[in-house]
Amino acid sequence: MRKMDIKKYLEDKQSDLEKSKARITNSNVFDFNYIPEKPLMRNEIKPVIDALLRYQQTGIANNVLILGSRGSGKSLAAKYLMKLLSSKNQLKFAYVNCRHHNTSFKILAHLLGLRARGRTLDELWHLFTDANPDKTVFILDEIDLINDKDKHLDILYLISRSDRNDMAILLSNNPKFTNTLDESIKSTLQAELVHFSSYNAFEIGQILTDRAKTGLKFLPEEEISQIAAMTVKNSNSDVRIAIKALLLWAMEPKVSLQEHFEKARRDIMIEILKDLNSKNLLILKAALSQKDGYVKDIYHSYRQISTQSGEEPWSYVHFYSNLSYLQSLGLIIMVSTKVHRTHTNRIQMTFDTELFNSMWQTRFE
Ligand SMILES: Nc1ncnc2c1ncn2[C@@H]1O[C@H](COP(=O)(O)OP(=O)(O)OP(=O)(O)O)[C@@H](O)[C@H]1O
Ligand SMILES: [Mg+2]
Repeated sequence: MRKMDIKKYLEDKQSDLEKSKARITNSNVFDFNYIPEKPLMRNEIKPVIDALLRYQQTGIANNVLILGSRGSGKSLAAKYLMKLLSSKNQLKFAYVNCRHHNTSFKILAHLLGLRARGRTLDELWHLFTDANPDKTVFILDEIDLINDKDKHLDILYLISRSDRNDMAILLSNNPKFTNTLDESIKSTLQAELVHFSSYNAFEIGQILTDRAKTGLKFLPEEEISQIAAMTVKNSNSDVRIAIKALLLWAMEPKVSLQEHFEKARRDIMIEILKDLNSKNLLILKAALSQKDGYVKDIYHSYRQISTQSGEEPWSYVHFYSNLSYLQSLGLIIMVSTKVHRTHTNRIQMTFDTELFNSMWQTRFE
């Protein structure tokens, strides 16, 4: 057997990566926060543009709630429109990602560049309106990640009830987000619901082609269409995975595309699992214990595991509606199968068991 030569391996790898420098002309385009000059247009963006233009014209707020799976272009659409409309000073915007600022206090403090401590919410609001006298479009990204402590989403009351006629655009990848809102907030907000559907392989191919044209020395058409197909089939159309797979492949084209795709999927899966709350982790744990994947059995097991872990389990209805959230994250696929002439709901797991188990250990053991 050939002895493994560490030095040789390292040098070969180094020289391969060195060559990738020549293939990649602009690595910024592979950053998930990169805003392309011309994002792919889709019909879903039109109602958002219309709402903003109506607001600009009439000054009457037209709140919007954008829902759609992970990587369906919600954040990009919001940021791009913000860039277009604020560049000519047409509208004032305030963008906050609730993942990083997860209470009404923290959102306002962040916008003001202050610390939230020692101030009331009203004080912060007044400081904000004094500093920003013009009516403002608040973009609250990943609104479902607001802390449970702030269940009433006080900031939404402040925005929708202010006599400045501010407007709110809320973004979430939880299809059941509205179920978690108070009736009173819903009626105050009167948000127009815009659903971003998942991209098809052709659209993902176009997005990748555009990145390749600005970021690579050449256009790998064949690989792009393969990545696009894999992303739709295996990863619930999350464009992030597609972009990452293309970058990994461009860095090391000798390694198979399949392998790169798996690596990209795994990296992104780790991020998703890290962000899950404990109830969702408990559901996945229960799903793993029921190999047949019947939803009813999983619920039963979920209740048991929850009790063992000292967590109050969700009701069946709540549990069931949460499955569509896990599906939108690309962690499971829900299927309806016919058993003895009746339809039964089952789920298939698309997450990596090993990864999940290590996450579980750090959270529960
Ligand atoms: N229409 C588009 N044109 C060009 N690139 C796009 C388009 N839609 C999405 N992308 C790219 O795909 C990636 C994921 O998009 P984005 O971050 O907007 O998803 P999202 O819907 O906000 O997902 P999440 O729910 O996880 O926040 C980003 O890198 C983004 O630039
Ligand atoms: Mg987003």
